[in-house]
Parts: sequence; C-alpha cells; structure tokens
Amino acid sequence: MLVDRETIAAAVRRVAEGVLDDLHAPELTVMAVLNGALIFTADLVRHLDVPLRIETVRAKSYRGAGTAAGALTLRMDDVTRLAGRHVLLVDDILDTGRTMQRLRAEVAAQEPASVRIAVLLDKPSRRAVDIEADYVGIELPDVFVVGYGLDFDERWRNLPDVHALETGAASIG
Ligand code: IMP
Ligand code: MG
Repeated sequence: MLVDRETIAAAVRRVAEGVLDDLHAPELTVMAVLNGALIFTADLVRHLDVPLRIETVRAKSYRGAGTAAGALTLRMDDVTRLAGRHVLLVDDILDTGRTMQRLRAEVAAQEPASVRIAVLLDKPSRRAVDIEADYVGIELPDVFVVGYGLDFDERWRNLPDVHALETGAASIG
C-alpha cells in the first residue's frame, strides 16, 4: 500500500482548509472530474461548510488496458452556467496536466469569477504542460496508482487506500 486511508483523510481535510481559507465569496461551485474524482469530491465537500453546488465533467483519455493516456475528450453539461461563479475544479490526480489544462480553458471561456484547482494526488515529475494545482493533498513519485477513485482499466476505484500498481497486469488480475 502506498497511501493509507488515514493519511488520505488528513490530506482531504488540509485541502478543504486551504479552499475555505481562500474563499472570500458567499458560494462555491465544485466541478468534479468524473470518474476519478468521485470519491475525493464526496469526502471533500463534506468538509466545505459553505453554500455550494456540485457540477460534473466527464473526462476520458482512452487508456484502454495500458497506463499511457491517449486522446482526451471532455463532456460537460451544455446548460451549465459558470459565468460569475467561483469554481473549484476537483480531480483525483494531476499527472501530465493535460486534462486540467483543457478543462481550465473551457471553464475560463464561460467567464467565471474565479477558477481554482484541487487535486488529492500530484505527480509533479510527470508534468508535460504548464499547470499547477492551487491545493494538493499528497505529492507522489512517478508511480501508477489505483484506489480511492483511481482506476486501472476501470477497476480498483473502490479500494479505500491508494496502492501502487504492480508491474504486469497479471499480478493484479
Ligand atoms: P493528466 O491529464 O495526464 O494530468 O491525467 C489526468 C488523469 O489521468 C487523471 O484524472 C486520472 O484519471 C489519470 N491518471 C493519471 N495518473 C494516474 C494513476 O497513477 N492512476 C490512475 N489514473 C491516473
Ligand atoms: Mg480521472
């Protein structure tokens, strides 16, 4: 196991405190990047004791059975109106940063009052584009991880702790 549930819970609380410290607005819009941010978002918002709404965006990078990301698609509800809102983009992990960079650009085009980024996990050594999160729970080295929302080929999201994926799918199959 790489990160146990107690360490995750403490990191979620730290992220929430950071968000609340910086929030000088009456309301927050949390935008969760599905599916990975499902569990992190569920835990995070319960520490955010402010009026908030939850929006979702579906991101898919067609990894298939491998761990290398392919073409990225984002699917956001068309009727979502973010103009004038304080938006917090929430994802499970910041890896190359391509997903967040695309999402931030699409959200910014709707002219929100502010856009900030919160991620539970960060692999800074993997970054391929110029983007950083405003709130990071835990920094990781360059290892592929599963659990607490993170998947390998859509599996293992339900594990309560974060585990490094063993090399060779056979060992986890
Ligand atoms: P990025 O666009 O490269 O930053 O990748 C972001 C997305 O890739 C995340 O939302 C995850 O879904 C996925 N991802 C990146 N690293 C991992 C990992 O170690 N395990 C599982 N999914 C990952
Ligand atoms: Mg994801």
